[in-house]
Amino acid sequence: MLIIGSSNARVGLPLGMAILRRGGTALDAVEAAIRAVESNPDDHTVGLGGLPNVLGVVELDASIMDGATRSAGAVAGVKGIEHPISLARRVMQDLPHVLLVGEGAERFAAECGFETAELLTAEAREIYLRGLRGEENTPYAGAAARAMVHRLAMQPERASGKDAGTVNVLALDSRGEICAGVSTSGFAWKYPGRVGDSAVIGAGNYCDGRYGAAACTGRGELAIRGATARTVVLGLAQGLSPEEAGRDAFADLDLIPDAYFSNMNSVVLTPDGRHAGFSTVENQIYVGMDETSSEVQSWPRIFVRLSANAT
Ligand code: GLY
Repeated sequence: MLIIGSSNARVGLPLGMAILRRGGTALDAVEAAIRAVESNPDDHTVGLGGLPNVLGVVELDASIMDGATRSAGAVAGVKGIEHPISLARRVMQDLPHVLLVGEGAERFAAECGFETAELLTAEAREIYLRGLRGEENTPYAGAAARAMVHRLAMQPERASGKDAGTVNVLALDSRGEICAGVSTSGFAWKYPGRVGDSAVIGAGNYCDGRYGAAACTGRGELAIRGATARTVVLGLAQGLSPEEAGRDAFADLDLIPDAYFSNMNSVVLTPDGRHAGFSTVENQIYVGMDETSSEVQSWPRIFVRLSANAT
C-alpha cells in the first residue's frame, strides 16, 4: 500500500493512507486525500482559496482515473464547487462521458446534490488584486485594462512556480490496484475558460493498472502538448523504470519550445510500488506514505533541465 503526491498533498495523505489501511480502494484514498487539499484555504492553487482567473472568478479543473478499468472522469472550468475531484468521480461513475465543462458540469453537480460555495477567499482576492496592480510578479498594469483580458492573460502565473500549483495524488491499494487524481484552480489570472492539463486525461493524468500512473503539475499547456502523463506511462509499458520513463518524457517535452515561463513536474507510481518524482525546478520534493509510515515522508524530485525553455 502506498500513496504519493505533490508536496501540497501533504495535508491529505494521512486520510488517504487511513483508507488504504482499512482495506479501502485506491480510488477512495485518492479522492479523500485530494478533498482535504481542496478544502485547504492556505493552498492558493486548488479548490477553496484558489487564485481566480483574470476576471476574479475561481475556475476549477480536476480528473480521476482508475487503473483497473482505465475509467476516467474529469471536469473543467467549474465554478462554485469545492470538491471538483468528487464531481470528476461522479462523471466517471454515473455518465457515459469522460469530461464535462462549465455550465454542464455545474448542472450535473446540482443534480448530484453538490453544494455551492464562494471559493474566492479574502486572502486569494488580495493576491489577485495585487497581481492586477503589478505587485505580484505579473505583468499586469491595472484593473482598468480588464477590457483587454486577453492581454492581461497573456502571461501565466509566475509567482508560485516550483512543484506546487495543482495537486497530484497517486495510490496503490492492498489489492494491487492503482488510481491517479489531479485537482487545480489552474493558472492564476488565466483567460476565462482556459482549461489546463489537470482535466485532460493523458496530459496531466494517466493511470493504467498494468503499468503505472503518472500525474503532472506545472504549465498545463506544455503537458497538453506533450501528452506528458500518457508518455510516462507508455515508457513504463515498454519496460522502463519510473526514473527512465520520466526522464524520457521530459526529454520529449524539451523538444517543444514554449515562449512562456515553463515549469513541469511529474510523479510516477507503478503497481509494484516503485515511484519517482521529476521537476524542471531544482531542489523540489514529492511526498508519500506507505503502510508502515507514521508520518508523511518526502523524497527529492529528479531535476531535469529543459534547455528549450527558460525556467
Ligand atoms: N497544471 C495546472 C494547470 O496548468 O492548470
